[in-house]
Amino acid sequence: MSDYLLEMRGITKSFSGVKALDGIDLRVRPGECVGLCGENGAGKSTMMKVLSAVHPYGSWGGTILWNGQELRCTTIKESEEAGIVIIHQELMLIPQLSVAENIFLGREPRTFGGMIDFDAMYVEAARLLSGLRMGHINPVQPVSNYAGGEQQLIEIAKALSKNAKLLILDEPTSSLTKSETAILLRLVKDLKSRGTACVYISHKLEEIEEIADSVTVIRDGRFVGDAPMADLTTSDIIRMMVGREMNNLFPREEHPIGEIVFEAIGITCLDPENRLRKRVDDVSFSLRKGEILGIAGLVGAGRTELVSALFGAYRGTHSGEVKIDGKLVKIRNPREAVRHGLCMVPEDRKAHGIVPGLGVGYNITLSVLDDFTKAGLIDEAQEFATIGDAIKRLRIKTASPLLPISNLSGGNQQKAVISKMLEPKPRVLILDEPTRGVDVGAKYEIYKLMFSLVREGMSIIMVSSELPEVLGISDRVLVIGEGELRGDFINDDTLTQERVLTAAITPLKRAA
Ligand SMILES: Nc1ncnc2c1ncn2[C@@H]1O[C@H](COP(=O)(O)OP(=O)(O)OP(=O)(O)O)[C@@H](O)[C@H]1O
Ligand SMILES: [Mg+2]
Repeated sequence: MSDYLLEMRGITKSFSGVKALDGIDLRVRPGECVGLCGENGAGKSTMMKVLSAVHPYGSWGGTILWNGQELRCTTIKESEEAGIVIIHQELMLIPQLSVAENIFLGREPRTFGGMIDFDAMYVEAARLLSGLRMGHINPVQPVSNYAGGEQQLIEIAKALSKNAKLLILDEPTSSLTKSETAILLRLVKDLKSRGTACVYISHKLEEIEEIADSVTVIRDGRFVGDAPMADLTTSDIIRMMVGREMNNLFPREEHPIGEIVFEAIGITCLDPENRLRKRVDDVSFSLRKGEILGIAGLVGAGRTELVSALFGAYRGTHSGEVKIDGKLVKIRNPREAVRHGLCMVPEDRKAHGIVPGLGVGYNITLSVLDDFTKAGLIDEAQEFATIGDAIKRLRIKTASPLLPISNLSGGNQQKAVISKMLEPKPRVLILDEPTRGVDVGAKYEIYKLMFSLVREGMSIIMVSSELPEVLGISDRVLVIGEGELRGDFINDDTLTQERVLTAAITPLKRAA
């Protein structure tokens, strides 16, 4: 009998001749949680797709041993029957179907007549959700009624209903709030204590530290090493991931700050479902040339609503005024925003940032196609020169600029979306959670890029839920809580996480 529940040996995988995995080993003991770490594009998701037969047996090389026996699954269903269940990095729920239908998709309880037994399905789903402390989620509602974080929890409930022996979580917390993350980590610990093993992929190394018993690191498709978590520090993991020492995670640079270029005055956003509720309540602020303005707050505070309203992309009713260079401007949609020199990298790249089937390169130039068009013809040479520069500037890892963007690793898709929004050369760039799903090395590069942009005179608004990032990068910090502007601080040595958090939860005292 083998010591291991799972042994993957010398796994190789190529896409059209390009090696994504080049001989990777991964071992998991029964009931153990293995953290799988590596930079964007290292091959983590691909490795897990090999294991769960998203890439079927025969399309990759090497061996998988499961309880000491060779495993040769050709369908996801087969791997699930063996007890391997994966929660993918990109959500796979069907928005129009109910929560219960999503959970039991393809395994619906049936009546004697063979029809779907909806009553039984709702009851079972409700029981499952409340057992996972998710009793507030209604199994009858369509999934689309729930926000990103809740959808992620529904996905997790779905996976858990399948009685996994090995659960694979591929960046499960990238759209979760702190408290949802805590729920998830507790669930994984519960499962572990009941003997379920797991492979946990995350760029948030503090989660790896909390949950993993051992860590396997891969780089550029190759195995770097594995060790018990107890023998490692996070800086060891970072060094193994990026191949060098990284002491300073925030490369803050001095840069001149000029006159006010942008003003938001009395921005108010009504909840699209309930117009009596204000998601953003009379927020005003200004932004100077060359300034990096961080917007902090708890998830759900109204930060994304605020910046989408500024960009003309808020889906409900909103009011307020925007001034650029002291002049009032009307921004009714993103196109007008871009024309006025305002660009935004949205929080949800899948819904708003990319055209999945289109090549990486064409995604990048999509917003500036007119620049390459003369007399109705596209100057391809010029377009490709621009694409080449963009790919180099952010070191986007792609086999070719023509590869559909959906084939890029998650973090590299994010870098491509940022590139796309730089092409119109905006004066004001809004970044909503720019480093979500991005590895430590690439985060550093994004920060460097932000500093070089502000030195060229651009101004940046950055929404981020990572307080160390907000404090590490911003010149000024706005704090939003329950739709209100609760703080506007210069980011000097006196500004601490505690002060920001205190401001976030302290309601304003308004004149009656
Ligand atoms: N279907 C595909 N076609 C072509 N190339 C692919 C495909 N799927 C993955 N790749 C390539 O394989 C490499 C590894 O990607 P993978 O998604 O496994 O990275 P990852 O480690 O999960 O990164 P991230 O942290 O950004 O999610 C990348 O270079 C990616 O572009
Ligand atoms: Mg991935």
